[in-house]
Amino acid sequence: MAALPLINSERLREHHFCLAAIGATARGGIDRQALTDADTEARGLVVSWAKRRGFALSCDAIGNLFIRRAGVSEGEAAVATGSHLDSQPGGGNFDGVYGVLAGLEVLESLEDAGVATRRPVEVAIWTNEEGSRFSPTTMGSGVYSGAYPLARALESTDGQGVSVAAALGRMRQRLPPCPSRPLGVAPHVYVEAHIEQGPVLEAMGATIGVVTGIQGLRQYRVNVIGREAHAGTTPLRVRSDAFVAARRIAAEAEALATTEGDEARFTIGRFEVLPGTPNTVPGKVTMTIDLRHPDEAALDRIETAVQHLCSTCAAPCVASMETTLAAPPVHFSETITHVVKEVAESLGFRTKAMISGATHDAGFVSRLCPAGMIFIPCRAGVSHNAEEHAEWADMFAGARVLASVLLRLADANEISPPEQTAPAKELK
Ligand code: GLV
Ligand code: MN
Ligand code: MN
Repeated sequence: MAALPLINSERLREHHFCLAAIGATARGGIDRQALTDADTEARGLVVSWAKRRGFALSCDAIGNLFIRRAGVSEGEAAVATGSHLDSQPGGGNFDGVYGVLAGLEVLESLEDAGVATRRPVEVAIWTNEEGSRFSPTTMGSGVYSGAYPLARALESTDGQGVSVAAALGRMRQRLPPCPSRPLGVAPHVYVEAHIEQGPVLEAMGATIGVVTGIQGLRQYRVNVIGREAHAGTTPLRVRSDAFVAARRIAAEAEALATTEGDEARFTIGRFEVLPGTPNTVPGKVTMTIDLRHPDEAALDRIETAVQHLCSTCAAPCVASMETTLAAPPVHFSETITHVVKEVAESLGFRTKAMISGATHDAGFVSRLCPAGMIFIPCRAGVSHNAEEHAEWADMFAGARVLASVLLRLADANEISPPEQTAPAKELK
């Protein structure tokens, strides 16, 4: 195996600060939602860094961008890494961007050291991982892996009615032309670096999380339809108040989720009341539910019970529930988790095997090839928050581990195929 390239920690730090300036908020975080001008600017900057080093670029139909350092054997599938540059509206400077920059740093370090790898090494920048502007979450990798229909993704609209297709068109106009590539090209392996977004590594004093899988995630849109009426003249007993019905469903659904134990996660992150005037009884509520659990059967039970609630507890209003994303629990390749652990420990880092509470593009990519993830700690486990923070030493450690893992896999022969995951649930 070729010698381990050194990570250029100064360059990683400089790249981090350059990207932290794009979409920066007064709270010290970023607002760089998918396919906005800020997201486009961030991609443009990363593209300029990649071009400076002579790496090849390609882009697919959903806007995923791939940066490739050629291998000796170009016909072979790439060893891939990556993550996302988009953020939550009140996002931090590490979620997603760290994995992209660590990946680019691996490519640049290989280049600096003149290391030839047998396979190409590639960094993917996945479109709309966050799902805050356009639903669903992990859209780019979902479409790329075939789990989510392209046409449906392109039709998804933001709060202003702008479609993904239109926003992608705008982004393409603002970036240098990029050769296109088909969806679904399987890498040889995929290993994504990310901050943990939870408190486990920090609490244990471990530097590297060896991620064995991702808990299951389902997202729903619940519509509650009532009847608009005058707030001053309509007695309470004759109202069809959509807010009152939605509040009832929300409270009972949350109570249901808690019956599946401490591992259940239930979030209503968006709750829109229409027409949204102080003096009209609400005629419509739309709310989102984000439901997570490591056990698919528990997700099924909660889903069935919430569906039942919608049909039994909305009267005199009418409630309906639509699934917008269904990602089953993911079990990463044991070969990859083994390599990550061995490499990290050989570099002197304390490791911890763990499953991810957050979802990641690696989950969908694991349908195409053996995949895995490397976590680094983040302060107090805080994420999706401007205060999100990771230590430099941990960022460099993660990049070093990623470099060694990718280098080892780029020269390896065969590794076991992806484990069978349950097929994506049909979306209505
Ligand atoms: C990713 O941001 C997630 O929602 O887990
Ligand atoms: Mn992320
Ligand atoms: Mn996120």
